[in-house]
Amino acid sequence: MLAVVSQRLQVKALTLCRLREFVGIVSPKSHDKLSHRPKRQPGMRVFSLLQAASLALVVTAPAMAGEARWRDCRTCHTVSAPDGSELARGGRSGPNLFGIANAPLANDSGFRFYSDDLRAAAATGARWTEDNFVAYLAAPDQFLRSVTGNPSAQSGMHVELRSGARELFAYLQSLSN
Ligand code: HEC
Repeated sequence: MLAVVSQRLQVKALTLCRLREFVGIVSPKSHDKLSHRPKRQPGMRVFSLLQAASLALVVTAPAMAGEARWRDCRTCHTVSAPDGSELARGGRSGPNLFGIANAPLANDSGFRFYSDDLRAAAATGARWTEDNFVAYLAAPDQFLRSVTGNPSAQSGMHVELRSGARELFAYLQSLSN
């Protein structure tokens, strides 16, 4: 959503720039008559600044939205780098989510309370792709049932997230890069 808005901003910035360029070309002030050197066009500077700013928004918007959503997870999860530094604060009743993007399931060797069913799902070789992550957060039991084929599989995590999982995935990925 933010990305769409900022893309629109970028289009507006482009239009603004073209307008300025056009004005610059027809304006008698656009050339320095004494030295015959074309003057720097202020429009271009505005353009490149705006473009850089909106490009940065496009790239970081999903991760920023994910950061805001971290409050839904931090009661139970932290994001802690291998050197021990805590990149996102949180509790320890769930596994550390550092490097979770595309990692194998149940991969936190320091977490000893994985459910049997999450371990069984991990044994299939499944990974936390973005789609698996989204499916798991939307319905953890359902996800484990479809991965293991066991219709009574149950997750040890009782959280269901209807929206924002992709932003969270981007956020967690950005922390581990
Ligand atoms: C109330 C505590 C709690 C909350 C809140 C919570 N989780 Fe969990 N989470 C857990 C537990 C416990 C597990 C281990 C589940 C299992 O073993 O079946 C887990 C497992 C996971 C896993 C699998 C990790 C792995 O190592 O395979 C992911 C991914 C995950 N949670 C993401 C999230 C995200 C994202 C949020 C926020 C939207 C969240 N969780 C909120 C308790 C929680």
